Amino acid sequence: MKFKNDLTIALNIRFPLVMAPMFLVTTIPMVKEAVSAGILGSFPSLNFRNEGELEGVLDEMNQFMLSRSGQQGNYGVNIIVQKANPWAKKHLEICLKRKVPVIITSLGNPEEAIKGAHAYGGKVFCDVTNLIHAKKCADLGCDGFVAVGQGAGGHAGPYPVSMLIQALKREFPKVPILAAGGIANGATLLSAISAGASVGYSGTIFIASTEATVSKEYKEAIVHSHMEDITLTERISGTPCTIINTEFAKKIGTQQNWFERWMSKNPRTKKYFKMIIQRRGFTWLEEAVKPGNYNNLWCAGQTVELIQKIQPIKEIVSEMEKEFYEAYSKVQGQISN
Ligand SMILES: Cc1cc2nc3c(=O)[nH]c(=O)nc-3n(C[C@H](O)[C@H](O)[C@H](O)COP(=O)(O)O)c2cc1C
Repeated sequence: MKFKNDLTIALNIRFPLVMAPMFLVTTIPMVKEAVSAGILGSFPSLNFRNEGELEGVLDEMNQFMLSRSGQQGNYGVNIIVQKANPWAKKHLEICLKRKVPVIITSLGNPEEAIKGAHAYGGKVFCDVTNLIHAKKCADLGCDGFVAVGQGAGGHAGPYPVSMLIQALKREFPKVPILAAGGIANGATLLSAISAGASVGYSGTIFIASTEATVSKEYKEAIVHSHMEDITLTERISGTPCTIINTEFAKKIGTQQNWFERWMSKNPRTKKYFKMIIQRRGFTWLEEAVKPGNYNNLWCAGQTVELIQKIQPIKEIVSEMEKEFYEAYSKVQGQISN
């Protein structure tokens, strides 16, 4: 069986799935494996913050894409366009110059990304967790929403993903949706597509991939954790973020104190305070993905419940594909005239 819709055609992907961008987790070899599996592989620009690094990996990716011309599979870059991200402007300029085929924006105003990418035929998808932000992105002409639902890895949204998809479809019927949060097997992907999404957007399952270079302990924590082990904390970036509730996570707590709250709300201090908080959060996370680290601060979504083994990216995709059609046949078998 084969699956296609307008978005899979526009993205040139064989199966309706994106390997979502993950800070400090996604590597270029992982993105190449995802592309080779025929899906869209993406990474956050923030994984390449050293001078000249992002330019280098984009040249490498564009070369790789040229070597595969005529085949399905594509790549994208995520840029956190929030004012508190000091790299946002520079990273966007670099991506536009190298004509990155897909840009995914999160947490801010995507206007420059949309204008810039549309000038060369690139596509821009915007992370949204509610209808207000979605309206801004739709008015600016985004090519689709990444609907980030409850329990998603990273900055999760407040609503169940199927509800968010349906609300977005009702308000913006022409804007395609990529569904983020809760997708880690064929049945959950099919359910998001049944709710109105065009493509699934999975992160956590790819942490447990053979190719990921994070510590063995982090991968094993993904495999052995359950949904009740996932908690939300504001302490890493100032925005609620899902993490595994390890001893270290308990130690740092889940909420900002009154001073941090005041500093992040005050118009004069908010941008700089967020920068400081994020720098501290980056350091904690950076240390935690390294082997042998005891400060276990591991970002992951509730899909840990569905992930039972560490396996190669191609196998993750092919298993999801098999289960997707099985789930579809199962539903079809229950429907009659
Ligand atoms: C470890 C980790 C790091 C993440 N980093 C980013 C990021 O840098 N930028 C971003 O837009 N989303 C980030 N996300 C969110 C993912 O792109 C995606 O929305 C999410 O993983 C989907 O939910 P799932 O993990 O349940 O599949 C991250 C998620 C995880 C698990």
